[in-house]
Amino acid sequence: MESCTSVRIYVVVDNYVDMLSANEEHVKRLRMDYQFSPKGGIVQADSGICFVIDTFNGKTLMSRVMIDSGFESSVTLHNMKLLGIDPKSIEHVLLSHGHPDHFGGMLGVLRAIHHKVPFTVHSDAFIPRSIITNITRADWINKKLTKASLGKNGAVIKETSKPAKLGYAIMSTGMVERKIEFEKEVPKGRFQIIGGKLIPDEIKDDTNIVINVKGKGLIVLSMCGHSGIINTVRYAQKITGVKKIYCVMGGFHLGHPDIPKGKIEKTVNELVKMDAKYVVPLHCSGLNFKFKMMQKAPSRFISSGSGTVMDF
Ligand SMILES: [Fe+2]
Ligand SMILES: [Fe+2]
Repeated sequence: MESCTSVRIYVVVDNYVDMLSANEEHVKRLRMDYQFSPKGGIVQADSGICFVIDTFNGKTLMSRVMIDSGFESSVTLHNMKLLGIDPKSIEHVLLSHGHPDHFGGMLGVLRAIHHKVPFTVHSDAFIPRSIITNITRADWINKKLTKASLGKNGAVIKETSKPAKLGYAIMSTGMVERKIEFEKEVPKGRFQIIGGKLIPDEIKDDTNIVINVKGKGLIVLSMCGHSGIINTVRYAQKITGVKKIYCVMGGFHLGHPDIPKGKIEKTVNELVKMDAKYVVPLHCSGLNFKFKMMQKAPSRFISSGSGTVMDF
């Protein structure tokens, strides 16, 4: 896999906004002073996630990729404006999986992109799915995600379960190999609807992102963490042939009440053991994970949220 000389990662949407932490090496935030200034605006959190990623060769911008869309396009487009991102400049879109907190804003953002754009996705994202628990039953949560509506709004769909190039030095993993014992866990209450029957949903469409940065190593981005974050990092190493891990970022799916006992501690230990220089938990990673990661390895922990820009 080729490597870029630097990368800029915009967290366009996350479930949280950190408007107080100071800027630091690699990290700038749309902080309170910007948000309340007449030229700025209030950056918004939403129940979802969206990244825009620029990769560079020297000073030359080589590619701009958007990963997921957040839940509401109004929030995503509002935050893009504050971050100075013109949607029309997006060259490739990846949808990580068929959950509404990742695709909900997609049609609105595609309309704002306003040109035909390559759109990479695993075909399982389109299989009808439901959430059934003892307090809720949500049928066909991905009903609005159709190939026809995506195509009508400019997406040129490429369905794949394999690793795929998204741009310069940035690729998607496709379906992640799941080998780590403590991450073998079929989420409770999630189903695919196949032939009218409810089938337990392993969310095999879960696709993640890897960026290779010259002299630093891999940046691995997980969007919702359904494959397990350690599985995802191991698989990223396997498909790229690059062992060194520089940064692990995204939704690690450790914030839910039914997370098995000890899983958070094991995940923290593995991330430290693999010597990830930075760990940036977002979206569904959960407060417990953030707390334990910050306690165990404060120098590796980066606090992030909507409106954070990271340069590596
Ligand atoms: Fe998800
Ligand atoms: Fe999610």
